[in-house]
Amino acid sequence: QMNERESMFLVSKFAKDYFHETMLNSNKGKAIGLSYFKERGFTNETIEKFELGYCLDEWDGFTNAALAKGYDLKYLASTGLTIVKENKQFDRFKGRVMFPIHSMSGRILGFGGRILTADKKAAKYLNSPESDIYHKSKILYGLYQAKKEIAKQDNCYLVEGYTDVISFNQSGVENVVASSGTALTSDQIRLVNRLTKNITVLFDGDAAGVRASIRGIDLILEQGMNVKVVQFPDGEDPDSFAKAHSTAELKAYLEESAQDFINFKVSLLLQDSNNDPVKKAGVIRDIVSSISKIPDGIQREVYVQECARIMDISERVLFSELAQLLKKDI
Ligand code: CTP
Ligand code: MN
Ligand code: MN
Ligand code: MN
Ligand code: MN
Repeated sequence: QMNERESMFLVSKFAKDYFHETMLNSNKGKAIGLSYFKERGFTNETIEKFELGYCLDEWDGFTNAALAKGYDLKYLASTGLTIVKENKQFDRFKGRVMFPIHSMSGRILGFGGRILTADKKAAKYLNSPESDIYHKSKILYGLYQAKKEIAKQDNCYLVEGYTDVISFNQSGVENVVASSGTALTSDQIRLVNRLTKNITVLFDGDAAGVRASIRGIDLILEQGMNVKVVQFPDGEDPDSFAKAHSTAELKAYLEESAQDFINFKVSLLLQDSNNDPVKKAGVIRDIVSSISKIPDGIQREVYVQECARIMDISERVLFSELAQLLKKDI
């Protein structure tokens, strides 16, 4: 007996295989989709590991193939693989390279599709719509491929994008997952929390990436996990950095540049405060607010001491600020 979600998983698996085979075995697939990944430096092994694919630039090539195999239009529509409009149906991911998104156990939940041209009107990435099987806020891209290594290394690198995950894997860093451009959620962090208590946040070296790191830190601390942050040079992301460096260089950079969250926040916030006492007070409050998210009292105390040391203020002031924040939470 099959329920709706089961049918959606089945058609998603078919789609994953279809996009993959089309890319590897059709002339256009090879000339357009495969060439794209090759130009980005992805090897055959990487393409297999992440089951990358290509959706031909035809209106309904995939949809017709699925219907011919007996898949129901109902599930093609509910997974968003096919867009149905006024009795016409067409492929959502037409002309895009495909990144299948796996559940922790390896089932296909949805897809990210990247456009190949620098068309300013179309979104660079298109994702599956929310559905009974695809909940963007509860998914981490790459978790299926990374879970063993996260447990083994007892650390998880958290990046923004699909290609960041893939390039790291190709460089031999396999304990990596992506939030896929959404603001990190507690549900996503919980998935990692089952495997390790340590997260290293590696967002893009641009203003948006820094903002996203700052937001993510408190959510990670709230779950009693340890957070470190690695910053990349402005304009770089983990993918471009990994491509430009050897595996040894990448690993050394990750080790040497990892900052404890508190040092990261202090140096970042102090940059804009220019020794202005009012701004400095704001920075202190911001950092104490992060510390207040840590559930463990002893750990909070250690961080207060650290904060007092690097900001050169008395612990007493910090503790009283912290006490006020903790009171508010109750
Ligand atoms: N993203 C998205 N929709 C967009 C842009 C981005 O869903 N229109 C998500 C994708 O998961 C993407 C991530 O946000 O991987 C990070 O975005 P960005 O840094 O812009 O893309 P990259 O991953 O660096 O992609 P690429 O290297 O292919 O340009
Ligand atoms: Mn294959
Ligand atoms: Mn970015
Ligand atoms: Mn990026
Ligand atoms: Mn990129």
